[in-house]
Amino acid sequence: MPHERTRVAIIGAGPSGLLLAWALRQSGIDSIVVENRSRDYVLGRIRAGVLEQGSVETLTRLGLGDRLAREGLVHDGIYLQWGGERQHIDFAELIGRTVTVYGQQEVVKDLMAAHDAAGSTVYYDSADVAVHGVETTSPRVTFTHEGEAHDITADFIVGADGFHGICRSAIPASELALYDRTYPYAWLGILADVAPSTDELIYALHEDGFAMHSMRSPHVSRLYLQVDPAEKIEAWSDERIWEALQVRLGVDGWNLTEGPITEKSITPMRSFVASRMDYKNLFLVGDAGHIVPPTGAKGLNSAITDVTLLAAGLIDHYAGDDTRLAGYGAASLGNQWRVQQFSQWMTELLHRDTTDLQSADFNYRSQRGRLDYVSRSAHAQRALAEQYTGLGF
Ligand code: APR
Ligand code: PHB
Repeated sequence: MPHERTRVAIIGAGPSGLLLAWALRQSGIDSIVVENRSRDYVLGRIRAGVLEQGSVETLTRLGLGDRLAREGLVHDGIYLQWGGERQHIDFAELIGRTVTVYGQQEVVKDLMAAHDAAGSTVYYDSADVAVHGVETTSPRVTFTHEGEAHDITADFIVGADGFHGICRSAIPASELALYDRTYPYAWLGILADVAPSTDELIYALHEDGFAMHSMRSPHVSRLYLQVDPAEKIEAWSDERIWEALQVRLGVDGWNLTEGPITEKSITPMRSFVASRMDYKNLFLVGDAGHIVPPTGAKGLNSAITDVTLLAAGLIDHYAGDDTRLAGYGAASLGNQWRVQQFSQWMTELLHRDTTDLQSADFNYRSQRGRLDYVSRSAHAQRALAEQYTGLGF
């Protein structure tokens, strides 16, 4: 059985794991990444597509910004829409910051290319991945790869293995609290081969429910509809999807151009935070420790924040200073709760909740009042702009 030694063993080759391995490598710290899915599967997962300005800066600083600079679509703001009116919120004018539309898969593709060129060790298609002895100074990861059993000893183990991963449960239950809430709605998302009908993202609250118009490129549109979490995708023909989008996104004098739908799926929405991101020599990053509903597109951005904080801590550790590594958990959670409240605010601002019929109509009108307030108050718009483009404290 191959016995390997590395400084940092990383479980999961999603954006968190690949980015951490890359950031460490740039500072001369070796790591090994172990992923249980195939490379194509990881690359094929469709996720959100908005990078905060700070995320763009981080990727660029790490040498991952070339294609991002060429193909990323810089947006100065977003549109909010309700009651048949559309209002532009101009982040650039309000606070001098922007966001960049660039799909998460593109970030992953760039990371894989960088690791390939550098010769990093990433074991895709690994089976029976298990972590051992995270409370000791020589924790281990075991797994099977191409029929061969592997046993890696490391200084640290990082759980970058997403919400359904194994690392979070290596923390004793008595040391961990889990905070979560589910929402009474889900997102039906489509990719369509059609030029976006808008220059910037549209977030719309409609009596029938939320709708959003996003994009992936000048030729590919990404759109979402609020649906009941119990809905089956089979019940939504392409015609029905476009019809609902036309109704919910429609405003006078504007056209939504339809095109062939190349992908459609329904995603439930949840908020989730684990009470700690570190335990002895185990650290969690990204979705392994927390999940946000997608309104506001914070999932990938807060994963990048975690990786930035943890990479800095590990780099300092190997230079003889443990201050930042010891502070990682608190720093990550502090950021996360700021992100959570914003994602919850955006979600509850824009979705129709009809579970309690008695208050549904009141709540809908109150939501419109809140949107009306945002549209009239420069202070409220700045608060939105600051949080949407990234707080970067
Ligand atoms: N062993 C090895 N790898 C595992 C295991 C396991 N037992 N369990 C899960 N994984 C892998 C998954 O297959 C996946 O590739 O860990 C990876 C986790 O990746 P993500 O779920 O993408 O999580 P993360 O890298 O933290 O990225 C966060 O993804 O879900 C979105 O909105 C979220 O954009 C955010 C980003
Ligand atoms: C996306 O393009 O997939 C997207 C954009 C903004 C969001 C969520 C998802 O808030």
